[in-house]
Amino acid sequence: MATSTHPIIISCTNNISLSTKSSSPRNVSRPSQIFLNPSRAIKIRSEGRENPDTDSLSSAKLDRRNVLLGLGGLYAATSNPLALADYIKAPDINSCGTAIISNTQNKEPVPYSCCPPTLGPCVPYKIPTFSKLNVRPAAHAVDDDYLNKYKTAIQRMKDLPADDPRNFYQQANVHCAYCNEAYKLNDKPYQIHYTWLFFPFHRWYLYFYERILQSLIDDPTFTLPYWNWDNPQGMILPEIFDDDESSPLYDKSRNQDHRKGYVMDLAYAGEETKASEFQTVKNNLAVMYRQMLTNAPCPLLFFGKPLRNDNDFEHSGMGTIENVPHNSIHRWVGDPTEAHHEDMGNFYSAAKDPVFYCHHSNVDRMWTLWKTLGGNRKDIADPDWLQTEFLFYDETKTLVKVKVADCVDNEKLGYTFQKMPTPWENFKPTRKRKTKLRSTTASVPPSTTAFPVNLCNITTLYVTRASTSKTASQEELLDLDLEYDDTQFIRFDVFVNEDYDVNTVELDRVEYAGSFSNLAHVHKPHITTSSTTKTTFSLAISELLQDSGLQDDDKILVCLVPRAGGCYLNVNKASTQIVDC
Ligand code: C2O
Repeated sequence: MATSTHPIIISCTNNISLSTKSSSPRNVSRPSQIFLNPSRAIKIRSEGRENPDTDSLSSAKLDRRNVLLGLGGLYAATSNPLALADYIKAPDINSCGTAIISNTQNKEPVPYSCCPPTLGPCVPYKIPTFSKLNVRPAAHAVDDDYLNKYKTAIQRMKDLPADDPRNFYQQANVHCAYCNEAYKLNDKPYQIHYTWLFFPFHRWYLYFYERILQSLIDDPTFTLPYWNWDNPQGMILPEIFDDDESSPLYDKSRNQDHRKGYVMDLAYAGEETKASEFQTVKNNLAVMYRQMLTNAPCPLLFFGKPLRNDNDFEHSGMGTIENVPHNSIHRWVGDPTEAHHEDMGNFYSAAKDPVFYCHHSNVDRMWTLWKTLGGNRKDIADPDWLQTEFLFYDETKTLVKVKVADCVDNEKLGYTFQKMPTPWENFKPTRKRKTKLRSTTASVPPSTTAFPVNLCNITTLYVTRASTSKTASQEELLDLDLEYDDTQFIRFDVFVNEDYDVNTVELDRVEYAGSFSNLAHVHKPHITTSSTTKTTFSLAISELLQDSGLQDDDKILVCLVPRAGGCYLNVNKASTQIVDC
C-alpha cells in the first residue's frame, strides 16, 4: 500500500493528547459503511441495523484514498487526505495514570506505577541500517554460548538503575501501561490487546527490547529466542527458562506443575487436559492448523478487529492466534496460586517473566509464517491500522515514535527466524463422525429459540445458514454474539455436527471448529462498574463444512463446550454469513 510511505505530518515533539476527541470531518460518514460487500448489505437491510463487527471484514480491502475519490469533492478542501483518518496517535506520556489489575472486580490498582519515565522529547524513529539479517533461534535449540550471552544481557538489564527506561522492570511496565488502562484513548482505557494492534504492538515492543539487550552486551547480532510451541519439540516450558533461582531467566511466579518437560496444552483452560501426551500433541497441532489456516483465511480474522481513535472497544475482538494459543499459554505459565495468576497470567505482570518475550517471539513468527500460507493471508491495507503509532524507549534511552506500517516486514527491521518444522501445516483434521446427526436429534432447539444461553453446560443447537452458496474467494463465518465478564478467564470450544455426547478430549478431528478464550483484562472506564464485554466471535467454517460433507445442508448442528468460566459468558445469537475477505 502506497499510504504506508506517506510522510508523517505530526511532529513527535508535540505531545498529542489522546483524550482530545476527533473533530475531523470524517464523522460525516464512515468509509467502511459505504463500501459494504453485497452480502453485508443484505444482512443490514434485513436486520434494519448496522453491524460494525462484520463491516470491518470488508474494510481490510479498503483504501481510504479511493473512498475520498469516490466521494468526489466532499473532502477536497482538506489538504492532507490523511487528516480524515481515525488512526491512533502516540500516547501522551504525561497523561499516563494509574494502572488497574485486570481480573479484579473492584478495579484494584497495580501497587506501583507502570508509567515510563519522562526523559526529554520524543522523536520519530528511523530504522538503523544493517548489512545482514539477525536470526532469532528456537529456544530449545540454542547452545551454551548463546545462553551465556542471553543471561548476561538480562542480568545487566536487571542491574540498571530502577528509573532507567531500559531497566528490566521498566520494560515490563511498558506492557502494563499499554494493557492495564494507564493510558487513555478518548477518555476510555487504551487497550492494545483484543484488537488488530496485537501483532504490531508486540513486534515493536520486542524489537526495542532486543536492541537494548544487544547494546548491554555490545553484540548487535544478539537476538531473542522464540518458544517453538507450534512444533512438538518445543511443546514444553523451554529448558533455558527452567533453571534454578540463580538464573536471571528464572521466575518463581509460574505454575510449578508445568515445568521440567511437562507437555503443554496449547488450548489450556485452567485445568489439566485428560488427553494422553501423544493426544495432547495432536490436539496442539490441530489447534495450530485451525488458527493459522482454517479460521484465518482473511486478514481481520487473523489480526483481530479494528481499534481506531474513537476507541469503540465494544466492537473490538481478537484474532485467531491471540485468542488461542497466545492467551492459553499465558494462563498455562502463570502461577495459579497467585491472586491474579502472576506473572504470565495477567497483563500487568506478564512481562516480568523473561519467558514472555520468548513466547511473543513465536507469536511474532506466526505473523511472518501466516503470510506465506497463501490466499488472502496478507497484511491489513486499512490506513488506520498502518498509521497507528506507539511510543517506546530505544537502546539509547531516546523516546521514539513508531508506526505500524514500518514493522509489517520483519526483515526490514533486520531479523528473521531460525527455520524449524511446521508440522501443523499438514495436520488437516480428519472426519470422525461418519453420519450426520441432524436427523437423529429432533430435541435439539433451533438457534432462534435457544438464546440467550448462559454457557454453564454443554449446549447444542441448530443454526440455519444464511446462504449455502458462495464464490471461491468468499468465506462463510459462523458468528457467535458473546457477552461476558472480561475480568474472568473463560474458554469454550465449538464443534459442528456434534451433540451432547461430544468427545471433548480429541481435537484433531474435523468436527472441532475452534475455541474462544478470554484472559482477564480491562478496557472499561474507571467509572463503569460493569465488567461485561460484548464481542462477535467468528469462526471460518467453509473448509470444515466441506470436509464434513455438510456444504449443502441448510442447517448445521453446533455444539458449544464450556472448558473454563462458562457461567461468566452468555451466547446471545448464532448465525452465519458469507463475507469477502
Ligand atoms: Cu501483550 Cu502476550 O500479551
